[in-house]
Amino acid sequence: DWIMGDYITEAVEKIRQQVGDEEVILGLSGGVDSSVAAALIHRAIGDQLTCVFVDHGLLRLNEGKMVMEMFAGRLHAKVIHVDATAQFMGELEGVSDPEAKRKIIGKEFVEVFQVEAKKLENAKWLAQGTIYPDVIESGGAKSKKAVTIKSHHNVGGLPETLGLKLLEPLRDLFKDEVRELGVALGLPHDMVYRHPFPGPGLGVRILGAVKKEYADLLRLADAIFIEELRNTIDEKTGKSWYDLTSQAFAVFLPVKSVGVMGDGRTYDYVVALRAVVTSDFMTAHWAELPYALLGKASNRIINEVRGINRVVYDVSGKPPATIEWE
Ligand code: XMP
Repeated sequence: DWIMGDYITEAVEKIRQQVGDEEVILGLSGGVDSSVAAALIHRAIGDQLTCVFVDHGLLRLNEGKMVMEMFAGRLHAKVIHVDATAQFMGELEGVSDPEAKRKIIGKEFVEVFQVEAKKLENAKWLAQGTIYPDVIESGGAKSKKAVTIKSHHNVGGLPETLGLKLLEPLRDLFKDEVRELGVALGLPHDMVYRHPFPGPGLGVRILGAVKKEYADLLRLADAIFIEELRNTIDEKTGKSWYDLTSQAFAVFLPVKSVGVMGDGRTYDYVVALRAVVTSDFMTAHWAELPYALLGKASNRIINEVRGINRVVYDVSGKPPATIEWE
């Protein structure tokens, strides 16, 4: 790919000139933007980059493993993996209001990141995966939610408090271009073409108060649903249902309902599946998934995830429903 190759050469040169021999830290989330930024900056300055990956205990199944394998394993980048699950769970205990949960997660995230950043005494730069639409968004009128999204994604407030300079190599790129760049840099297709995942993670997909037990059940159910979406190919288009949907996930409902299993009775939790098709995430249609796919995902979740005995599918459009349940 000629054009992308030239782009990389130029971008690498620019980063080297900007940074010189100084050190850079970057918050790796597993999302597309921070991953591509990390890969590009690593290409430019290698070990002058240190990535910090904060696991708040609200990530998808095997997310930490995947990020470490990719960046520490394959790219040989310096990555600090912080398991802050206990800390986040502690702060979230008993908190059920969605916005209160978002605030706590965002604040904890910044604190944990800051502690790690301060250990890297030589770092002069904070790298972020800000892309062009983020730049526009923060310049224009913002909804309350957009502010929340922004502040979490961009580890808000860190540059001033840490006295770091900002390095934002993706600032001029649209999402499609970021994805192409990621592929050209050797990131796996599946990582670069992932559905978006909210900063607060499973924290807003567990309704009400968050518990580790709930997160563990939800992770398993969600992984099964995503696996079935990836493995089911639509005959008409030849694409997987994962690629035919814009965002799909499971939601944990902390209510119990009755079921039968063998000779016994179960009294377990409910999981809702949500899949939407949208171009801008401002409005969205619920995805008309094949019944066979829904049936298989439901059977597998109920059989494989002990503690869940009922699966429902969300058929609400946005508006009036939002994509996330909180
Ligand atoms: P809603 O639920 O508002 O979601 O229809 C629209 C898009 O935004 C994502 N979203 C978030 N992303 N922090 C994020 O980083 C958040 O607090 C947050 N809330 C919603 C949601 O996943 C969807 O893609």
